[in-house]
Amino acid sequence: MSIHINAKKTEISTKVLMPGDPLRAKYIAETYLTDVKKINNLRNMFGYTGKYKNHLITIFASGMGMPSMGIYAYELYKDYEVDTIIRIGSCGSYLENIKLKDIILVDKAITNSNYAYSQSGKRNSKLNSSALINEIIAKKACANMIDFIKGNIHCTDAFYGKVNINKLIKKYHCLGVEMESFALFHMAKIFNKNAACLLTVSDSLVTNEALSGEEREKTFNQMIELALETIISL
Ligand code: HPA
Repeated sequence: MSIHINAKKTEISTKVLMPGDPLRAKYIAETYLTDVKKINNLRNMFGYTGKYKNHLITIFASGMGMPSMGIYAYELYKDYEVDTIIRIGSCGSYLENIKLKDIILVDKAITNSNYAYSQSGKRNSKLNSSALINEIIAKKACANMIDFIKGNIHCTDAFYGKVNINKLIKKYHCLGVEMESFALFHMAKIFNKNAACLLTVSDSLVTNEALSGEEREKTFNQMIELALETIISL
């Protein structure tokens, strides 16, 4: 038990996949896992533990935004002794050549948020994902013929906000925008654990196109399978 998670300590695997949406966690657990048990229902932030190809893993939702992601990553790493979290989420694209349905493997999360300072008293605006996990993701993608693009992501506090997209592209090489990766990488750093982030492009800030619900589901499956294959080989 922790403040926001009512699972027993033994009910959470050391390997966790983290979608933002609790109903996506449910979908992943019901579609891909066997022997599934719902292990968290506090605030409807669902978590499930079950087996994928005989490996015990946990799927746990993060909610939206860095404050929510930060709470769950903190408690999973600290109170449940989780060693690896892979976020599987969606993002908006900042570039014409980063198209809907593309899969992004996040190298660095870039933020203008005060999140790191609020949490630790130290300012930081750029954090790396785990090189080791990224290497395995790349190998698994190759073996399963899944295309991906590796690059930086802008992690924002404000979905509806003013941004200087040109600066984020030119100075920080950001491919797109989402709202959770920086807090995940920050917690991994604080606790000396592993974190990675895969994203599917769900909308474009260049063309204003967005995936339909059905398209989202189908394309997310490739990213989910890539994350599952990676996490069981750790
Ligand atoms: N902005 C921020 N977060 C997102 C977006 C976006 O356009 N799309 C998916 N997550």
